[in-house]
Amino acid sequence: ATKGKLLILPGDGIGTEVMREVRRVIDWYAKKRGVEFALEDGLAGGASIDAHGVPLTDATMALAQEADAVLLGAVGGPKWDSLPFAVKPERGLLRLRKELGLFANLRPAMCFDALVDASTLKPEIVRGLDILIVRELTGGVYFGTPRGIETLPDGSRRGVNTQVYTTEEIRRVARVAFDIAAKRGRKVTSSEKANVMESGILWREEVTWVHDHEFKDIELSHMYADNCAMQLVRNPKQFDVIVTDNLFGDILSDAAAMLTGSLGMLPSASLGAADAKGKRKAMYEPVHGSAPDIAGKDMANPIATLLSFSMALRYSFDLGTEADLLDKAVENVLAGGLRTGDIMQPGMAKVSTSVMGESIVRALDKLAA
Ligand code: NAD
Ligand code: IPM
Ligand code: MN
Repeated sequence: ATKGKLLILPGDGIGTEVMREVRRVIDWYAKKRGVEFALEDGLAGGASIDAHGVPLTDATMALAQEADAVLLGAVGGPKWDSLPFAVKPERGLLRLRKELGLFANLRPAMCFDALVDASTLKPEIVRGLDILIVRELTGGVYFGTPRGIETLPDGSRRGVNTQVYTTEEIRRVARVAFDIAAKRGRKVTSSEKANVMESGILWREEVTWVHDHEFKDIELSHMYADNCAMQLVRNPKQFDVIVTDNLFGDILSDAAAMLTGSLGMLPSASLGAADAKGKRKAMYEPVHGSAPDIAGKDMANPIATLLSFSMALRYSFDLGTEADLLDKAVENVLAGGLRTGDIMQPGMAKVSTSVMGESIVRALDKLAA
């Protein structure tokens, strides 16, 4: 019997390259551990536009609805940048998130010991770092209306987006953050701009409400998002869990990525509401994009996507031991001195995407022996 349905959407650019390495690892689990999935493949983003004229077809959306987990590479690229907004690659990704109801995006930033010197920050600032950004993913300015570009009577134009949050949207993502904090450092920092935005005031009040009514014994503090960006590079280890809105979470997580050495290291899990059996819809993807500047060169770091698959094993398939194995294999390969270009350091061996993937499979072999 398989462990469940896994839909793989490699997407565009380096998305297809890093996903090839995940496939290698998936094959290894099937062959060596008897851990098998019912695999489906699909197109998303530019690849889907080229084949079907839309960034995500209804058929692929239906596959995602039926899957126990979706694994996505990355979408987008210069080839599709000048398309109308409604059919850009990125709209396909946003549709997946919205229609699957994936409101909680977990973006862990951990610094592997071997990469302490790969960060642009001083070693003592990042050594042992283990923080988690919980980004709200289906609301806020990404989806609020009114939105659009309109031409005014004088011929000039106006671009409009709207930041909206409701009580329930804030409370449900806050609960996810407190729940996870209870299993780690028991500290939540909520980040918004309550000093200039009404939606930020509501955010602060509702997160506080959830804390006071349901999670009194977790430490809660509030921090303006601009200060939070600064604190992340000044002293990131002060944080445990950060909970924030869709846009601030996007920005803060890219910043947090550099604490680990590279954007190519950061995985993510996007989760929906739990059903009666406690199962959640889920999509797993690296935090990085399609990296047009290095696409097609076998240079991309596949680790963010491999660690995203590890999160899928853990959160969607209850295979924590198997996930530990993959995390450990990544750690061992890094400790052994192999580096893709983005995390290259003096004295280390620079390897391609595929050699990194093969090496991680070999490390899995050793661990399982
Ligand atoms: P990007 O994340 O693709 O790249 C930013 C920089 O980081 C580039 O220099 C890139 O080479 C480097 N980088 C990223 N991932 C890497 C990896 N795995 N290994 C080594 N280096 C890596 O961001 P961008 O350039 O601003 O965006 C490019 C395209 O990707 C855009 O179309 C954007 O909309 C899209 N995008 C998609 C996603 C997604 O699918 N989830 C996320 C972010 C950006
Ligand atoms: C991310 C990306 C996406 C976002 C884009 C590609 C829609 O930057 O996943 O972080 O802004 O959420
Ligand atoms: Mn982003």
